[in-house]
Amino acid sequence: MEFHNIARSGQIPEGVVRRMFVGEVEIALSRSDGTVYATSNYCSHLDCLLSSGKVTDEGLLCSCHGSVFDYESGEPLCPPATRPITVFPVKETDGQIWVGVDEELAKAAMRRRASRNRRTPPVAPADRGNGPGTA
Ligand code: FES
Repeated sequence: MEFHNIARSGQIPEGVVRRMFVGEVEIALSRSDGTVYATSNYCSHLDCLLSSGKVTDEGLLCSCHGSVFDYESGEPLCPPATRPITVFPVKETDGQIWVGVDEELAKAAMRRRASRNRRTPPVAPADRGNGPGTA
């Protein structure tokens, strides 16, 4: 697994979550109780960005509907999310943060809800009246 230097330690102070990228892989980088964690940036419930969420003592909170994800396992600790988010290994040395990404983790982290990729069908124009049966 290749580790990528994605931030300086000072960019992720205690209690902060930020969006970072390794290539096209979007990562939520957070710090809780002094430790830096890296997860997919997409909530497993409805794809809200976890970088818009909050660091809590229990885990990373999704601001959309309140699911909290364990920092180390990615498992949801409370509903509505039922599936884990992808977790990446992190190293912090000499004031730099390194995140390990391999092909399998990258694929998992970029997987989003199928409905997100579908196009919304066009909406039929509303009946404007003046036809038979209208007053
Ligand atoms: S999108 Fe995160 S809890 Fe609903």
